[in-house]
Amino acid sequence: MKRKGIVLAGGNGTRLYPLTKAINKQLLPVFDKPMIYYPISTLMLLDIRDILLISRPQDLETYKTLLGNGQQWGISISYSIQESPNGLAESFVIGKDFLKTDPSVLILGDNIFYGDGFSSKLKDINCSKIGSHILGYPVKNPNRYGVIEFNKEGKVIGIEEKPKYPKSRYAVTGLYFYDNTVVDRVMSLSPSSRGELEITDLNNLYLKDNLLNVKLLSRGMAWFDTGTHESLHEASSFIRSVEHRQDMKIGCPEEISWRKGWISKENLINLASSLKKSNYGEYLLRIIRT
Ligand code: G1P
Repeated sequence: MKRKGIVLAGGNGTRLYPLTKAINKQLLPVFDKPMIYYPISTLMLLDIRDILLISRPQDLETYKTLLGNGQQWGISISYSIQESPNGLAESFVIGKDFLKTDPSVLILGDNIFYGDGFSSKLKDINCSKIGSHILGYPVKNPNRYGVIEFNKEGKVIGIEEKPKYPKSRYAVTGLYFYDNTVVDRVMSLSPSSRGELEITDLNNLYLKDNLLNVKLLSRGMAWFDTGTHESLHEASSFIRSVEHRQDMKIGCPEEISWRKGWISKENLINLASSLKKSNYGEYLLRIIRT
């Protein structure tokens, strides 16, 4: 079984205006690299090498210039268009032919995950073929997110999208694992009152069938979404602090690929050489030497 990955890098990013008036949100920098590097790195850490990137029509060429077909990082990146922001769950309608009968993982292009052993903690989920798996993360402002509701026994009984009065402080992160029934389930969804195919409705469908599994991320895990000026800055300064202190990069596809043995040392040297005037390129040359 090979799980396939979808990165959704659409949306108009209006909460980040004027930053995103001319540039797609997921192309903005998060400290030293474009935001899209982080979700792609997360998929790579999960050993997902077959990736579909979904973007707006006007951004497709820019993404292709930045990421190519993925071969340079030992992965495959293909592209599809989301004509208008019709909701996150539409990714599976768009990605139907790409997924065929394989299980999938969807990551939102503005979600950044970081923590010791993150991918090994998700190993069981990643290997599971049945149902859906989502992650819950405690936040101060849950009403900005999908929010998980628990009963007294701690069992998940519902998810609400951006509720006015959140029933818990657990937000649903933008990393979702689904079995191969996801496309059919999305096809049965109707658009919400804001006219979108909601990921929360999809997750509630799985819940109704007793097939939704929620893993709560613990202390020591960092999760950022970067949808507002504050959260974008917060993520950038977090990345800068960790990278500066440890001299280890977060979300660096070249390094992940090399360490996983997907590209050779020579390949990495070539990639680094084309970037060597920047700290990023210098870093790549440094890790080869150390
Ligand atoms: C989306 C989802 C929400 C989820 C969030 C995670 O919201 O609709 O359920 O909690 O991503 O980043 P958006 O950020 O697109 O408003």
